[in-house]
Amino acid sequence: MIIETNQACDLVIFGAKGDLTKRKLLPALYRLEKHKKIHKNTRIIGSGRANWNKKDYVKIVKTAIKNFLNEEMDQNVWEKLSSRLTFCNIDVYEPLHFLELKKILQHKKNVIIYYCAVPPDTLNSIFIGLGNANLNLIPARIVLEKPLGISLETSKKINNQISKYFLESQIFRIDHYLGKESILNLFALRFSNSYFFQNWNSHTIDHVQITVSEEVGIEGRWNYFDAMGQMKDMVQNHLLQILTILTMDAPKNITSKSIQYEKVKILRSLKPIDINNINKRTVRGQYCSGTIKGKKVLSYLNEYGANENSQTETFVAIKVHLNNDKWLGVPFYLRTGKRLAQKYSEIVVVFKKNIVNLFQNLKLESSQNKLILRLEPDTNIKFNFIHKTPGLDQEYKLDNSYLESIDLHQKYSENLIDAYERLLLESMRGIQSLFVCRDEVEEAWRWIDPIIDAWKKTKKNTLQKYTSGTWGPKNSDLLLIRDNRYWHSFN
Ligand code: BG6
Repeated sequence: MIIETNQACDLVIFGAKGDLTKRKLLPALYRLEKHKKIHKNTRIIGSGRANWNKKDYVKIVKTAIKNFLNEEMDQNVWEKLSSRLTFCNIDVYEPLHFLELKKILQHKKNVIIYYCAVPPDTLNSIFIGLGNANLNLIPARIVLEKPLGISLETSKKINNQISKYFLESQIFRIDHYLGKESILNLFALRFSNSYFFQNWNSHTIDHVQITVSEEVGIEGRWNYFDAMGQMKDMVQNHLLQILTILTMDAPKNITSKSIQYEKVKILRSLKPIDINNINKRTVRGQYCSGTIKGKKVLSYLNEYGANENSQTETFVAIKVHLNNDKWLGVPFYLRTGKRLAQKYSEIVVVFKKNIVNLFQNLKLESSQNKLILRLEPDTNIKFNFIHKTPGLDQEYKLDNSYLESIDLHQKYSENLIDAYERLLLESMRGIQSLFVCRDEVEEAWRWIDPIIDAWKKTKKNTLQKYTSGTWGPKNSDLLLIRDNRYWHSFN
């Protein structure tokens, strides 16, 4: 990545009281402070509907950091961070309130970053408020959290609203998966290793499996989640982002324009799934009660605030094809679900079977090499290979072992960073390569919408129940078994 000199910023956080701010943004700011990544003149301005003064705000920030930081707070770091804090009481529906913010901002020559950690229905008022107060002008940047819409139409609406006030070069759309070390490592793995670079196509690869499995349920977010479902909450953004990084052509360089251009090409090449192939290509499930790591958990329909008739999916498995020469005929099997047996994310690249067989006791299926990229909870890379077992037997006795990398988290534990830390820093640096451009968001929705539509229309693709603590509905296995394939099991 290009590292630019850090700039002095005024970071305005809309949604200062919100969960995301407390759980993610504030601990990330603390860690950036600890690592001396924040410019000495940078200020942090919390904003929201509250009559807090600076002292109240400092206290609230301190409690949040204490609650959500995974380490002891260092007094010196905290003092530095707290000296940057200010609070501005803004009701985003009150245009005059933005003038208060203007007073705070206009004394400095800092780059201004508006971080919108707010529900989507308040976004437009923020755009308008900033625009009317001329607070949108360069060098201002704006950071948007997902969900950006719940369909192509609604996401276009948000994009059109923001484009009245901000240029695309000022807009930083977050997908926090792009800030994860393991996802960044995919770039390095694919584009800096000659073996992988040259063997990354349909000539050598049989199929790919991408699993993002969660143990958590919906964490008290019934209203949000039930309107979304796992498809919109996880596939539209995180899983499609992983898929694009895994399959895109080498960008001309590592600028945001070149990277985003290649990612958009992949999203445009996704083969449509609609009413005609929905049953063959997708599986959707909803969790029932069960046990996860010895703890009993409720069914989705018994979650707090639930509507008992909900047909929302908490699990999705999809067989995806790309309509381009490089990936012709290679299926990508994606699965993600809540309340599964284990939290982990993994990509399994299965190579084609061998075309010759010199060994009587070798089944050609088992000659398929697998590259296993574990993204979470540990970060390691494994490659299986077949070899002779030592001994004097006349016949070759073969076995299967792994070449295994060390856990990168363990080796470089000092450099462990949270996705939000990385993304906040990139927004301060003004580098957009780890953010999602308008075309990416809209192309993803263009592919997702017909699937959701087909689920509504088809009666056969009924929602399948699965027990919490398992790997999802049985049909998820069938999706691969039909093709003579199996999900790689977690170990
Ligand atoms: C969020 C989703 O974007 O990602 C959540 O809204 C999900 O439902 C979360 O649990 C998963 O993120 P991570 O980093 O824990 O894998």
